[in-house]
Amino acid sequence: MDEIWPARTGLRVAVWVAMAWFLATPWEAKAQGTDTESIRVARGWNRLTTREYLPADFDQEIFDALWTTWPEPLRSRAEQASIESRRRMAMDRYGLIPHPDDPSRSLQYVVGKDGRWTMSCLACHQGQVAGRPIPGLPNSNYAIETLTEEVRLVKVRQRKPFGHMDMGSLLLPLGTTNGTTNAVMFGVALMRHRDKDLTVVARPLKFDLIHHDMDSPAWWHYAKRSHLYADGFAPKGHRMLMQFLLVKENGPKEFLAWEDEFRDIEAWLQSLKPPEWPWAVDTALAEKGRAVFATHCGSCHGSAGSHSAKAVYPEKIVPIDEVGTDRVRFDSLTARDRRNLNVSWFAQSVATRDGTKGRESPVGYVAPPLDGIWASGPYFHNGSVPTLWHVLHSASRPAVWHRTHTGYDRDRVGLEVISLESMPVQRLTSAERRTYFDTSKPGKSAAGHDFPDALNEEEKTSLLEYLKTL
Ligand code: HEC
Ligand code: HEC
Repeated sequence: MDEIWPARTGLRVAVWVAMAWFLATPWEAKAQGTDTESIRVARGWNRLTTREYLPADFDQEIFDALWTTWPEPLRSRAEQASIESRRRMAMDRYGLIPHPDDPSRSLQYVVGKDGRWTMSCLACHQGQVAGRPIPGLPNSNYAIETLTEEVRLVKVRQRKPFGHMDMGSLLLPLGTTNGTTNAVMFGVALMRHRDKDLTVVARPLKFDLIHHDMDSPAWWHYAKRSHLYADGFAPKGHRMLMQFLLVKENGPKEFLAWEDEFRDIEAWLQSLKPPEWPWAVDTALAEKGRAVFATHCGSCHGSAGSHSAKAVYPEKIVPIDEVGTDRVRFDSLTARDRRNLNVSWFAQSVATRDGTKGRESPVGYVAPPLDGIWASGPYFHNGSVPTLWHVLHSASRPAVWHRTHTGYDRDRVGLEVISLESMPVQRLTSAERRTYFDTSKPGKSAAGHDFPDALNEEEKTSLLEYLKTL
């Protein structure tokens, strides 16, 4: 177990230290904010995995009946399986990872004492690579829409009421390709029904949202950033992390009450380190790649990986026409949507803390840090490019790709995929269709970022080797 969850022992110790501290410290000291950073970090992880900030999505009985909605031959296989392996099959289907301490539940949902499952941040922000869960890695397998559809079917059969996800997904698409979600537009839609102090205000529903799916970013970049999101429009801060809690059940009172818990969550995010490439590297070749990187990539992405104390990260925003990647995400937020967020309670603490301001009209996309980039495929903000080799060979990017379930491609560095020229001709169910990434769909283009085109094949080979070491 320790092998697949290397941080576990460390975290346990940290949680125990935090508990011991909590019991031993007088209340006055706590109130005066003498929390050390390491205690906050340990508490942050604990909050992420144990706190139910949203209404529950489904109960254990529903989860255990999901297999009854599956197509054959999967359903018969599930019917004959033990309850444990059936749960494991369900987790595989929906892109969930068994909790290291209790494999009957997943890391992505908090299971309460009453057996109800509540989505947490980790649904989108806790993934695995080559079979290994890594803290802060985006979940490139999460099948949010398929899970919600199948939960809804079981609820109808079990005569149980629909929850906010079941209803929400009737109004908005949740994610048309597994591993990516329409999370940004849920946020925009929900924010349009709040005033600046987050009180719910009744406004007519508008159907002008430009839905599109995004790949969530790696959380270990958090420490390096001053602004968040693909276009860098929002100032970073613990309150900003609370947007995901904008369901109608949560109002100003809940946000205030939970604010301190999100300071802990922020401390945990801030503490994350990128994972190191676990296999051999040709160091002589990587050394050549370092020079190529410095000349052709560093001005935007920074001068060195995070493993170096001298790392410089310019957090550069590159104009949309210059970067040339899919622009739907860029165009989908209006200046007004950005302002709504940036004048709200979510942004206020930040402006007063260090003067960081949000941006109403950013010019393009932020060049992200490339630390741990080997692990966080697929690439670009929309997750349209499966490997780093494809990032470097813009003319050979697949029009449609279908990944092997959790396979890792060490040669091309990224997801192991089957490339296709177009979608398969046979009829697919909607669940099957979501296992294909179709770059011809709106918001899913894999074009652009042609900067590596200036390199010859030898330079690209060495650069690919170097990228493994970041
Ligand atoms: C349904 C999926 C989903 C859930 C759940 C979710 N996020 Fe995200 N998150 C995203 C996506 C997609 C983005 C990218 C948005 C963008 O760049 O415009 C994102 C971006 C972020 C970023 C910005 C990172 C960066 O470098 O720009 C942070 C921080 C973050 N999320 C924290 C959280 C926290 C904390 C929670 C829980 C309270 C949470 N998220 C829940 C999908 C999700
Ligand atoms: C002019 C600035 C610029 C240059 C030069 C540049 N990039 Fe980028 N890069 C960007 C931007 C902006 C993005 C974000 C694009 C998006 O997500 O749509 C990006 C994204 C990436 C990504 C995907 C990151 C992720 O997390 O998905 C990789 C990998 C990458 N660049 C590698 C390189 C390499 C290697 C070079 C050098 C050959 C390079 N870039 C040169 C601006 C640049």
